[in-house]
Amino acid sequence: MENFHVLKHPLIEHKLTILRDKNTGTKDFRELVNEVARLLAYEVSRDLPLEEVEIETPIGKTIQKTLTGKKVVVVPILRAGLGMVDGILDLIPAARVGHVGLYRDEETMQPVEYFVKMPNNLEDRHMYVVDPMLATGGSAIAAIDSVLERGAKIENIKFICVVAAPEGIKALQEAHPEVEIYTAALDEKLNDDAYIVPGLGDAGDRLYGTL
Ligand code: PRP
Ligand code: URA
Repeated sequence: MENFHVLKHPLIEHKLTILRDKNTGTKDFRELVNEVARLLAYEVSRDLPLEEVEIETPIGKTIQKTLTGKKVVVVPILRAGLGMVDGILDLIPAARVGHVGLYRDEETMQPVEYFVKMPNNLEDRHMYVVDPMLATGGSAIAAIDSVLERGAKIENIKFICVVAAPEGIKALQEAHPEVEIYTAALDEKLNDDAYIVPGLGDAGDRLYGTL
């Protein structure tokens, strides 16, 4: 599949197994989502642009590289996406954060937008839209539509999740084929309630103890 990446790494797989375990409690779940997000962000940020700068070490002048351009924007889809933000900011501390609040209507499974707040100048920024779960893809598509409406460029948008279902990948790729999707795992399918199988349950509820 083009523009779709499963980021395999022993640390990610180990942490994901603990996340999937129904006996893992809220505190550990929250820490692990951030740890996995940090590891994913390390790979996703590989293509950030650099420019050459001249600096002076204690020994002499040298040309070296530094990140260039406007700051990255991390866009968590509320609520569960918030659980990934600190892990990513550990790596990219100067990143801005734009929030998109969506919930899935439990009858229609369609996302309903309730909050959006973005930094300025989205057209010049790399956007990392983040949510632990890509299930039907409805939330990811709506969040990406929302940042596009506010000026982000499609070629600068990446979607980062922890667990993805084939149905969500297909829907997101049909809606936005240019968006690169990164996940720690590609699971089997969705069940009749649109939960990912085997998945890890309801990420928002497990992160915030609202089960
Ligand atoms: C969950 C999850 C995603 C969405 C994924 O959110 O955090 O945002 O479902 O499903 P989709 O791909 O079918 O749209 P939920 O609506 O449970 O809200 P929450 O994050 O506030 O718990
Ligand atoms: N949202 C979740 O939190 N979990 C799923 O399995 C599907 C959607």
